[in-house]
Amino acid sequence: MRILLLCHAFNSLSQRVHAELRAAGHEVSVELDISDEVTAEAVKLFQPDAVVAPFLKRKIPEDVFATVPCLIVHPGPPGDRGPAALDWAVLAGEHEWGVSIIQATAELDGGPVLASRTFPMRPGRKSSLYRLEVTEAAVAALFEALQKIERGEPGDPPPPGRWRDPVSPTARRIGWTSDNTLTVLNKIRSADGFPGVIDEIAGREVRLFNAWIEPELTGDPGTLLALCHGAVCRATVDGAVWIGHMKEAGERPFKRRATAVLGKAVAELPELPIDSDPEKGRGPICYREIGAVGVLEFDFYNGAMSTEDCRALLAAYQQATRRPTRVIVLAGGSDFWSNGMDLNAIEAADSPPDESWDNIRAIDEIAEAVIRTTSHLTVSAIGGNAAAGGVFLALAADEVWARSGVVLNPHYKNMGNLYGSEYWTYLLPKRVGEDGIAAVMGHRLPMLAAEAESLNLIDRVGPGNRADFDRFVAAEAQSLSEADFDVRLKTKTERRARDEAERPLQAYRDAELERMRMNFYGFDPSYHVARFRLVRRSPHAWTPLYLAHHRARVGGK
Ligand code: COA
Repeated sequence: MRILLLCHAFNSLSQRVHAELRAAGHEVSVELDISDEVTAEAVKLFQPDAVVAPFLKRKIPEDVFATVPCLIVHPGPPGDRGPAALDWAVLAGEHEWGVSIIQATAELDGGPVLASRTFPMRPGRKSSLYRLEVTEAAVAALFEALQKIERGEPGDPPPPGRWRDPVSPTARRIGWTSDNTLTVLNKIRSADGFPGVIDEIAGREVRLFNAWIEPELTGDPGTLLALCHGAVCRATVDGAVWIGHMKEAGERPFKRRATAVLGKAVAELPELPIDSDPEKGRGPICYREIGAVGVLEFDFYNGAMSTEDCRALLAAYQQATRRPTRVIVLAGGSDFWSNGMDLNAIEAADSPPDESWDNIRAIDEIAEAVIRTTSHLTVSAIGGNAAAGGVFLALAADEVWARSGVVLNPHYKNMGNLYGSEYWTYLLPKRVGEDGIAAVMGHRLPMLAAEAESLNLIDRVGPGNRADFDRFVAAEAQSLSEADFDVRLKTKTERRARDEAERPLQAYRDAELERMRMNFYGFDPSYHVARFRLVRRSPHAWTPLYLAHHRARVGGK
C-alpha cells in the first residue's frame, strides 16, 4: 500500500511504525502536521491508499478523511476518547490499558474502531509505557487495521465511552502533607515526559520529572532530605521520593537535573553516593550478578549521558571488570539504551562547546574501557531504543544483541551533521566493512533491529517482549560464560593486540575528536542550532525531504 504517515512530530512511535511499514513492503512517506492546507497538499501529491496518524494532536481535515481512509492510533481502549488517554490511565492506577486504531470522522476519536489491543499496566512513567507497551500494541493493531482497509471491511461502531479533557494542573497537584508515596509517584509519572507536574520548591515554581522511590530515608512530609547524582529526595507522609529532573520557565526552559535547577537552595543538603545495589536502587546505575554474568544497568533519563553520568558509569564498569565473573552485560535503561551526549546539560552549560568537548571525551573513555577489556567477554543488550553516539557506544562490546522492536538511529546527521566519536571509525568498518559504512551513516532514517542485523551492525535479535528479552539475554550470556570461554577470550585478546599494532586506538580517537572539535568550535553552527531546537522541542516549519518523499519527487521543500 501507499501509506502517508501524518504526525505532530516524528517521535518514537512514528519512527517504529515507519520502519515496520517499510519492512513489510509498503511505500511510506511522512508529512508533519503543520497546517490543514499542507496536509491536503501532501495527500494530493502522494495519492496514498491510507493515511496513518501514529501521533497527532489535532483533527484530520474533513476533505482528507472524506477522500482517503485515515487511521488514528489512540493510546486508549475502544470507547476512550480525548487527548490525554495515557495520563488519565497512569493517574488512576489502571491495571489494564489498551490501544485502538480509529478511523477518522468528524467526531474526534469517535469513528469506527478498526482494531485494538490491551496490555497489563506496569508502574512506570507515561513516556515509558508509551515507548514500550503502547508501541508494541499499536504496531500489532495497526497491521490488523490496514488489512481490513485493504479488504474493504468496515470497523466496529465505537462502544459507548467518554471524552476526557487534558488533565488539569490541579488534578495532579501534589499535597506533600497528605499524599502518600504511591500517589505522589503516580501524579509525577502521569505527566512525565510532558508536561510535568507543577510544584513549588524553595519558593520557585518548577515542573517535576523522573521520580522514583527512596527505600530508606524518611522525614517531615515535604522537606528536602538529601541529594544523589543531581537528584533531590523529598519526604512524603509515608516515605520519600527522588526527583531527578525539573524544568522551570525563564532562560533555560528545558529539563535539567534537579540540583542544577535548584542550585544554592539545596547546596547544604547531604550528598549520598550512587548505590548500584539493586535492592537500594539509589541513582541511575545498578549492578547485579547472575552466576558468572555481571549485569550493569544504566537508566539515564531519556538515554542522555552527561559528563558526570559517563564518569559514574565508567567507575561502575571498571568495578565490574574487577569481579570474578566472566561476562559483563551492558544493559542500558528501560526505555533507552543510550542516546549519546546529554544535549540538555550541554545547552544549559555556560560554554556549550566546552561541555560538548568534555561530554564526548567522557563517553569515549567508556567506549575505550570496553574495547580494551581482556578480562571478560562483553555484551551490549539493547532492550530500549538507541541513537547517535549511544548506538556506537554499544558497538564497543564483543557482542551486540537487540530486542526486536527497538528503534536504532545509528547516525549523527540529524544533530547538525556531527562527525561523531565513540571510536566509530574503528568499530563500524570491522562490523559492516568499508562498503557498509555509507549504508549506516549516510542516511537519517530510523532502523529496526532486524535491519541492523542484516547489515551486520548487530549480532543477534532477541524477543520483542521486554521481559522475554531480559530472559534471553540472561540465558545467552550464561552460555557465553561456559562454551569456549577461554578460547574466545584468547582470540579477542590477540585480535585487540594485532589491531593496536596496526593502528593504535588513540589514533582513531584523535582523528575523530579533531573533526568533533570543528563541530563544536568551528565556523559551521549547525550542531549548536540543531541542539537548541531539540532541547526546546521547537516546532517544525516543514517536513524534511528525507521523510517527505512525495515532496522530494516534485522538488518541493
Ligand atoms: N540529550 C538530551 N535529551 C535527549 C537526547 C540527548 N542526547 N536524546 C533524546 N533526548 C530527549 C528529547 O529531547 C525528548 O525530551 P522530552 O522528554 O523533553 O520530550 C526525549 O529525550 C525523547 O526524545 P524524542 O525525540 O521525543 O523521542 P524519540 O524516542 O522520538 O527519540 C531520537 C528520537 C533519540 C532519535 C532523538 O531524540 C534524537 O535525535 N536525539 C539526539 C541524539 C543525539 O544526537 N545525541 C548526541 C550525539 S552523541
